[in-house]
Amino acid sequence: MWAIRGTMKKVQGVPLLEPIVTHWKRVETFRAFPEDVLIATYPKAGTTWIQEIVDLIFNHGDAEKARRAPLHIRMPFLEMTAPDPTFSGITLLEKMQPPRIIKTHLPIQLIPNTFWEAGCKVIYVARNPKDTVVSYFNFERMNLITPEPGPWPQYLDKFMKGQLGWGSWSDHVKGYWREKERKQILYLFYEDMKETPAKGIRQIADFLGQQLSEDIVSNIVQMTTFAAMRENPMANYSTVPDTIFDRKASDFLRKGEVGDWQNHFSPEENAAFEEHYIKAMAGCNIPFRFSLPEQ
Ligand code: A3P
Repeated sequence: MWAIRGTMKKVQGVPLLEPIVTHWKRVETFRAFPEDVLIATYPKAGTTWIQEIVDLIFNHGDAEKARRAPLHIRMPFLEMTAPDPTFSGITLLEKMQPPRIIKTHLPIQLIPNTFWEAGCKVIYVARNPKDTVVSYFNFERMNLITPEPGPWPQYLDKFMKGQLGWGSWSDHVKGYWREKERKQILYLFYEDMKETPAKGIRQIADFLGQQLSEDIVSNIVQMTTFAAMRENPMANYSTVPDTIFDRKASDFLRKGEVGDWQNHFSPEENAAFEEHYIKAMAGCNIPFRFSLPEQ
């Protein structure tokens, strides 16, 4: 049985769940192959969405193939270590043949060198920090293996201080942004994917060297809407037991919107966040959007 409400330890100053840190050597010594593709995000940036899109792209829009197994089995979570081996990324990856699609939340400085040495392609997804932290808060209310999130105002404060799992949001998004030209990193935004999903899917397919007809692109758009993925047991994490995900607290696919932060931030919290954001992002102009124009 899984330890309920885990604790954090650090690797190079970055807080991670304790079992990840205990087994860190396995991450460091992991071997990547050139065909492997890494999907990297700060938690709650839309990882699951992009994973489903990438799998459908590699399967040319074949829904049945993409439904062969739950997401965490199809695309293992690199650094995740758990007593139940079906949730341990490296245990799963070692049994798979390349090309493997691999999920990670690690900041760029903790990505094992093997990925850069092998020249792997990396798809990075970033989401504006206000929606990210609201999503993270609700996720940690339902995910019983992460530390207790506590009340919202304190949670927001911890997010700004970089004390949540996987560390500072601003360091994370800046780290990949600064390396994107030197390494093979496709840098995407959650907000763009919401606004023009077909364009995003074409961009990802081009980056992966996959030719898709317009019909396939439209089918992938339909199969990866929030509503469609919420109903898809192979993409909505409904196979994770209730002892780990407490669905009474929140759904995994909760709202899937841009701008939901406006229902959670008080005017004072928003002012403090704006001040923090300007300082944290100084010298790095990443075009985040906090709302979308009315459609
Ligand atoms: P919300 O909590 O705001 O709803 P991750 O996969 O990185 O954990 O991110 C989860 C967030 O992405 C959740 O945000 C979830 O609802 C959203 N998401 C997942 N699939 C989506 C989709 N198909 N379209 C839009 N948002 C999606």
